[in-house]
Amino acid sequence: MNTSERIAAARIELLNRYKSLDTKADILKARELKELFSIIPSLEPHERSAFGKEVNALSVELKRLVEADSESSEELAPIDVTAPFDINVRQPEFLPVTQGSIHPLMNEIAVLSDIFSRMGFVIEESREIDDQYHMFETLNFPAGHPARDDYDTFMTQETDKDGHPLIAPAHTSTMQNRVLRKYKANLLAGEPIAAVVPDRTFRNEDLDARHEHTFYQLEGVYVGKGVHAGMLVATLQSVLQEYYQKELEVRVNPFYFPFTEPSFEFALSCPFCSKEGCKVCSYEGWIELLGCGMIHPNVLKAAEIDPAVYTGFAWGVGVDRLVMMKYGIEDVRHFESAKLDFLRQF
Ligand code: DAH
Repeated sequence: MNTSERIAAARIELLNRYKSLDTKADILKARELKELFSIIPSLEPHERSAFGKEVNALSVELKRLVEADSESSEELAPIDVTAPFDINVRQPEFLPVTQGSIHPLMNEIAVLSDIFSRMGFVIEESREIDDQYHMFETLNFPAGHPARDDYDTFMTQETDKDGHPLIAPAHTSTMQNRVLRKYKANLLAGEPIAAVVPDRTFRNEDLDARHEHTFYQLEGVYVGKGVHAGMLVATLQSVLQEYYQKELEVRVNPFYFPFTEPSFEFALSCPFCSKEGCKVCSYEGWIELLGCGMIHPNVLKAAEIDPAVYTGFAWGVGVDRLVMMKYGIEDVRHFESAKLDFLRQF
């Protein structure tokens, strides 16, 4: 047998054996393969390179077979989520099947929604993917406006019918236009629009104790005749006092949002130390809590509401922040962490 024939014979032998192996990778340790490699140094120099290449090709062929088989065996064993639940399979101890609990954020959203509905606000839901029109255009961010960059948005590769990527909403304000349109008929019939939207929001943040990529906001919108900023302050103060079950002082400072004019940053006296100064308020006595303002005429116009007749206020507050302050939670990342020792405290 010449050297080439020897390789061909070894190949047939190895391929045959491969079929019957339970552990396919064992073929790479086969005696025949090792022997072929060990012959190389003893060959005449002019034979060495051609032989070496052939042995190597065989070895690569076998490796590819093993790889392809292991990939397809993974594919062949998908998890069947519809399979009947087998009660004989012991459940992991850290997941008691008889005991579940409501996530603290969901619980607090229910508490807040209850406060608002008692004040006459309807509760609306947001969505987890939206378009540029609702994220920016209806909120008076013209195309190319630098304030668009203030929102670190996640965008999709797919585009909408106008060729724009879709956005995981970076604030619940994306719902303002929809809410205004939905209740416009009531407004024209003389009833103010009063709605809150508590839901999930997303930002491409650098994560730390105060920043999370997924968080919750609660948007509020109130529109009617003769609505003014004093009503905004009073509404938020009442809600926060009810939520923290405490008398609180509030403070507004001028700010900028494209969708409100004037815009404010709303602060409240620290519910923990009553302005004495503590860790929660970074020894300031006050906590900058949320953005708010009088709805910009262009936002009303985008919903075909006449700003000469109607005015309104709006705000957006981070729910995680409110809950962190209520319970003294020091790191926002606990909420999305699925840590049971954290969740069980609620
Ligand atoms: N959408 C703003 C944000 O996430 C918060 C906000 C500010 C909402 C003012 C409002 C508002 O409705 O009027 O930064």
